[in-house]
Amino acid sequence: MPRQLVLIGIGTGNPEHLTVEGINALERADVLFVPTKGEEKAALAAVRREIVARYRTRPLNTIEFALPVRDTANVDYKAGVVGWHAEISAQYAAMIGAMGPDETGALLVWGDPGLYDSTLRILDCVRGEGIAFSMKVVPGITALQALTAAFAIPLNTIGNPVTITTGRKLLHGWPDGADSVVVMLDGQKSFAKLDSEGLHIWWGAYVGMEQQMLIEGPLADVAEKIALARDHARAEHGWIMDVYLLRRV
Ligand SMILES: C[S@@+](CC[C@H](N)C(=O)[O-])C[C@H]1O[C@@H](n2cnc3c(N)ncnc32)[C@H](O)[C@@H]1O
Repeated sequence: MPRQLVLIGIGTGNPEHLTVEGINALERADVLFVPTKGEEKAALAAVRREIVARYRTRPLNTIEFALPVRDTANVDYKAGVVGWHAEISAQYAAMIGAMGPDETGALLVWGDPGLYDSTLRILDCVRGEGIAFSMKVVPGITALQALTAAFAIPLNTIGNPVTITTGRKLLHGWPDGADSVVVMLDGQKSFAKLDSEGLHIWWGAYVGMEQQMLIEGPLADVAEKIALARDHARAEHGWIMDVYLLRRV
């Protein structure tokens, strides 16, 4: 049997987001790899530990490792990310290479492994370097699902597509022809820089977690309130993750 790596989507911080498939995959794993680093990663690692304590019925060999920090001083965003992924890839190669030939390693991936998460891309690089292993993905609840569920709203309007983008991209303006836009990875409060005319926002931070915050309304009315709440929460907790849906109404 070749080594296997299973990526388990764990949802957005509520241990009850884990699927039965995820619980079973966790139970079968021989070793768990847990990334740590900085205040945000420490909080996320705490959620992962809680998941293990809650669902795993027998001891689990857990390897915690400090993720390299991305060089944000690099002027070229893509080059910075590529270099960072290469460093992480080397780290994974060493850890996977140290696994027994028939062992299964698990990674608890925030949300869903397929959405704004580079673990799958990084593991492809590891394989490209000649380290053999098979891969299995267990889907998880994404931040955007957690957001729409928290507000009890549909993601799309009838028959229309949805655009999923980042704060960095939104800074360049409203996506052409879009009606519903989900924004993730926005450390710059890009919503506050948009022309707010005709836009409604549903904003959530720490969605699914104890600290959950939700604000919604016409963007023109609530943008400042969200910006202040975001700054305050970030200062209080030392980190923040937020996601929002903008819709033309
Ligand atoms: C690196 S991406 C990971 C996305 C994840 N794979 C998913 O499926 O949701 C991190 C971004 O996801 C969003 N996010 C993740 N967890 C969140 C939460 N509990 N509350 C609000 N936003 C969250 C934020 O936009 C954050 O910047």
